[in-house]
Amino acid sequence: MPVEIFPSSPEHRRHGSNAGQPLTRRDGLLKVTGKATYAADNHREGMLYAVAAVSSIARGRVKSLDVQAAKSHPGVVEVITPANRPPLAHNPNQKMPPFGFRIEVLQDDTVRYANQPIAMVVAETLEAATEGAALLNPQYETDTARTRRENGERFKPEAVGVGGPSRVAHGDIEAGFASAARVTEAEFVTPAQYHNAMEPHAVVAEWDGDRLTLDMPNQALVLSCAGYATYFGIPPENVLIRSPFIGGGFGSKAILNGPQILAILAARMLKRPVKLALPRAQMYGPVGHRGATWQKLRVGTDAGGRLTALHHHTLSATSSFDDFLEPAANASLPLYASPAILAEHEGLRLDTGTPGPMRAPGEASGSAALEVAIDEAAEACGMDPLEFRLANYAETEPGTGRPFSSKALRECYAEGAKRFGWSGRPLAARQMRDENGCLVGWGMGTAVFHCPHFPAEARATLRADGTGLLETAGVDMGQGAWTALAQIGAEALGLDPEMVELRSGVSSLPDGGIAGGSGHTASAGLALHNAGRNAIDQLVDLATADPESPLFGAGNVGVVARAGRLHRRDDEGRSESYSDILARARRTELVGDAKAAREPAAAEAHAMFSHGAVFAEVKVDPDLGQVRATRLVGAFAAGRIINPRLVRSQYYGGMIWGASFALLEEAVTDHRTGRIMNSDLAEYHVPVNADLPSLDAILIPEDDPYVNPLGVKGVGEIGITGTVGAIANAVWHATGVRARRFPIRIEDLLSDW
Ligand code: MOS
Repeated sequence: MPVEIFPSSPEHRRHGSNAGQPLTRRDGLLKVTGKATYAADNHREGMLYAVAAVSSIARGRVKSLDVQAAKSHPGVVEVITPANRPPLAHNPNQKMPPFGFRIEVLQDDTVRYANQPIAMVVAETLEAATEGAALLNPQYETDTARTRRENGERFKPEAVGVGGPSRVAHGDIEAGFASAARVTEAEFVTPAQYHNAMEPHAVVAEWDGDRLTLDMPNQALVLSCAGYATYFGIPPENVLIRSPFIGGGFGSKAILNGPQILAILAARMLKRPVKLALPRAQMYGPVGHRGATWQKLRVGTDAGGRLTALHHHTLSATSSFDDFLEPAANASLPLYASPAILAEHEGLRLDTGTPGPMRAPGEASGSAALEVAIDEAAEACGMDPLEFRLANYAETEPGTGRPFSSKALRECYAEGAKRFGWSGRPLAARQMRDENGCLVGWGMGTAVFHCPHFPAEARATLRADGTGLLETAGVDMGQGAWTALAQIGAEALGLDPEMVELRSGVSSLPDGGIAGGSGHTASAGLALHNAGRNAIDQLVDLATADPESPLFGAGNVGVVARAGRLHRRDDEGRSESYSDILARARRTELVGDAKAAREPAAAEAHAMFSHGAVFAEVKVDPDLGQVRATRLVGAFAAGRIINPRLVRSQYYGGMIWGASFALLEEAVTDHRTGRIMNSDLAEYHVPVNADLPSLDAILIPEDDPYVNPLGVKGVGEIGITGTVGAIANAVWHATGVRARRFPIRIEDLLSDW
């Protein structure tokens, strides 16, 4: 059961205080010393290794596999194909809500995308399994792959993302354009991107009768238990998932996938534990990606530069067999005050693996297009981009008129602009050069991300020795959840963080909800907060009802909990330690349980978003067209900040991804075969430190009384959203060229020169 993986670092002892402190990561020491164990580090007695053979075509049928050759290879134990794949309790062609996807688990010989598993080889060693898979020599009946916009099949979706509306209309869009003094129009292309977490999707699966234990990286522990239970026909409580450390998830580890299910199936079939770790190339297909989009924006403005209409149309790519669509157009709904907004989506079926949520799904791609379109509209109006955004600042949610639960975006604009030095920016493009003759450009973008809240449960225990224990099946995939959640729980318990142990990352703990949607700290945090208060309430009851306590008769409202002691509010000198209260009551511990969900009324009454403003400087080599993002300044407002160090780290990570989106990242498909040509970390470009020499994230204070009782909003995804547009707009400011496809390429800039 949960190993002891939750020590506190010396840093915690030094700070010795609660929420709001920049504590270092609780998991940091374990990670940098190599003591953190990831899923694939697990070994079981008698364990077998599974390796998937994947298709090298994108559409067609597997005619034959040389199963015999693979099976007779030394060490190979079994070869699983559609012919002998044991049945599942749930039809994998049927989606399972929520976040239900059709799962690819050798149900037939059809090939629907490149890198689709077409067999799974299980062997005594990884080498034998790998060699066995290479001996299968698949023969295909090949159809032409449809991987382009031109040959995909367009369709009208019922929903986008994980159930969002595919069309939202506010006001009269055509009247808005009719009354406009100017209309700017632009089309944008965003490519398929792959999550590329450092840690591959892996699982070590072990069956004991009809009980299943899984060591695997997983962003949605309890939800996934229910999913596996459905596929394998066992009760959810029979599934235990351990996910203490995750080497990045970004959404791809929140959703069940075919390879992992096949490995679990193999373990059941062969009655031995099985390990599967996807090689990097196999992460380009069966485990989700950010789908490509083709977006069209029309922006109408009046003579004074105010929006009269905003129309955002997105064509989002998905697979031939499932429906996840990047909800990119919805990025235009919450941000700018236009009397008419139309956001609509179409779907495009391609022969690709099914896309899924990837860090800032919808907003990342959608705001990339929106922020450039807004910049173009500002340019058309002869206005400074910041002035234009302020002129169109939404005081209430556009379309609905709902008040924002909080919105310190104005402060983000002001602080970010000041730190960046925006006021010195020339209005026209191609006005600035550096000392080496490079073109210099400054651009900006607005960042926005919604604030989902997931139902969550937690337990907080006060122990006789005066320490606390916090338990919730939450997940730290690098965002700092262990640390932030411990801070929230410790605060609720009136204990210093080093006095609390946090247990997390195991599905048998109270359901901490999903680590996703930038909602984990708020959701699991609120449950821990409530659980801690519950435990303290019980402690206060014990003390105030005990004539021997200095708190006798104080009543709940008359007591404060601080640093392991209860104090009378009216006379702080009268106090007693938690351990003394528990000892006299002969209690070894007090357990507070809690569930937490958002007040539906508060959620209906308010629009809830984190906001930010990102300012970018780029330098462009005038001869080579090479772009460097030399300086990024982001100012973000996201309610109460639990740990400024970790929040800043999230903003940095988001901004780095934004730069990656703008300048580097793209899965390149060979349209002749439908295969992705750069399915490795050498050719799939992501930034390194040298690509981003200067990053600055400013934390703007924001008090939000409505978003949840903690006042905490999300910080994990918003950093991408403003950054892409800011960089693209800076590239225009440097060069005078509007790049409309991402990543921005040298040839896009040179074509107009
Ligand atoms: Mo995320 S795409 O909510 O992990």
